[in-house]
Amino acid sequence: MFFASGSGSNFQAVVDAIENNEIDAVITGLISDNEHAGALRRAENHNIEVRVIKNFGTGEATEELLSVLRNWSPDLIILAGFLKKIPDEITRLYHNKIINIHPSLLPKYGGKGFYGKHVHQAVLEAGDKTSGCTVHYVNEEYDEGKIIMQKTVDVLPDDTPETLAARVLAEEHILLPNVIRQLLNQTK
Ligand code: GRF
Repeated sequence: MFFASGSGSNFQAVVDAIENNEIDAVITGLISDNEHAGALRRAENHNIEVRVIKNFGTGEATEELLSVLRNWSPDLIILAGFLKKIPDEITRLYHNKIINIHPSLLPKYGGKGFYGKHVHQAVLEAGDKTSGCTVHYVNEEYDEGKIIMQKTVDVLPDDTPETLAARVLAEEHILLPNVIRQLLNQTK
């Protein structure tokens, strides 16, 4: 199952990989904190169950979340562009079952405030020659769980945050399905 707040292109990459028989899995559902998330439309297009939980972080929302998780009983929980913090209760309950994709080479440019364009802007300002993306386990701290796999992307001299973001995102779409395939095979 997935959590997504935004456009959902990473979610789509996994849906496509499943439909192309590159991953043997069923997506039980998608949770979003944002009723306008493009990810919701993508899920509906593929008949994947969706749930919008708006007051994320409140006790009531955590209860709702726990009940959805009990129903869906996922083997793997994937955060793909999800902007809210997963409650500690849930990260503890689903230890080593929640993964996140982040558009930098963690531990660089992770943590609160480092999302979307802010990450790529910081990479360019620092003059880094490489950036990339990371899939990692989710624990109680933002972007600090154990790293599973990374992919490096060269930073080009004339890159803007937008051009760098686009090249990193293209690699995310390859990295995320690869990691999911690997993790599911390990648990089979
Ligand atoms: C990606 O860059 C991902 O790494 C980050 O948020 C973005 C989500 O993009 N966590 P999308 O919604 O999958 O298109």
